[in-house]
Amino acid sequence: MPRDLQSLAVFQEETDFYRIHLYDVIGSTNDILYRFAEDGHPEGTVIVANAQEQGRGRLGRSWFSPPGVNIYLSILLRPKAFGFQPTLITISASLAVVEAIRGLEKPKFEIKDSKFYNVWSKWPNDIYFADKKLGGILTTASLRGVEGSFFVIGIGVNVNMRREDIPQDIRDNATSLYIEGGDVTDRGRLIASMLKSFQVYYIQLNKEPDTIVSSWCGISKTINSRVRAITQRGEIHGIATGIDERGFLRVIQDSGEEIMLNSAEVVHLR
Ligand code: BTN
Repeated sequence: MPRDLQSLAVFQEETDFYRIHLYDVIGSTNDILYRFAEDGHPEGTVIVANAQEQGRGRLGRSWFSPPGVNIYLSILLRPKAFGFQPTLITISASLAVVEAIRGLEKPKFEIKDSKFYNVWSKWPNDIYFADKKLGGILTTASLRGVEGSFFVIGIGVNVNMRREDIPQDIRDNATSLYIEGGDVTDRGRLIASMLKSFQVYYIQLNKEPDTIVSSWCGISKTINSRVRAITQRGEIHGIATGIDERGFLRVIQDSGEEIMLNSAEVVHLR
């Protein structure tokens, strides 16, 4: 196992919420954790892999998952208070990912001086650096009443991948922390920081979901942007004006009509 992931053993000693299972190569961390969940593994079970052979993205796409360079992990949640919307869980995870990346550098004066301040969240699940995709979140829910329900949150972040490692077809639209910052990042430390941050947001989600919504608006460029959204009912154009307590995106369409989107592919228009 690469040394930078071995440091997770230290975090495992410190945490009483997470139980981390480390794999070298796996099909998909989401798929294996889903099976763990069905077998009764507890909330807080985490799978981290050094590489994925069948990494999955949203909308049936594949997720490029080469060995040794990026973060591929999944977290199991079994929320007691139901009514939790997968979208709200996804944006809580986005908050944790963006916060952990921005915190990689401790700027002397202002977080705004950090080179990773350009990292932001695009509704509902994308992590961007400026106008390139840096990572993404894939949340799968199994809803079977309060006791049997669970969520698997998959997080993929491009960390130490070089530009030449990226397949041609996504090279213009994808990036990594290494490409943007020029330094190699310790994946284990970044994962520990994401997990710690996520735990805080998860507690907050139980108590004050409104604060999650407002914090997320602070790290997203989707709000107040002109967007094109591809929904199950077709394509719409308009201005994204906010998200509600379920994490749904509010769009005022060019026709003046308001629409709430639960899930859609959103493109920011300039
Ligand atoms: C997306 O933006 O389409 C979501 C990408 C999610 C990728 C992560 S990598 C870890 C976890 N396991 C998977 O197979 N997918 C998610």
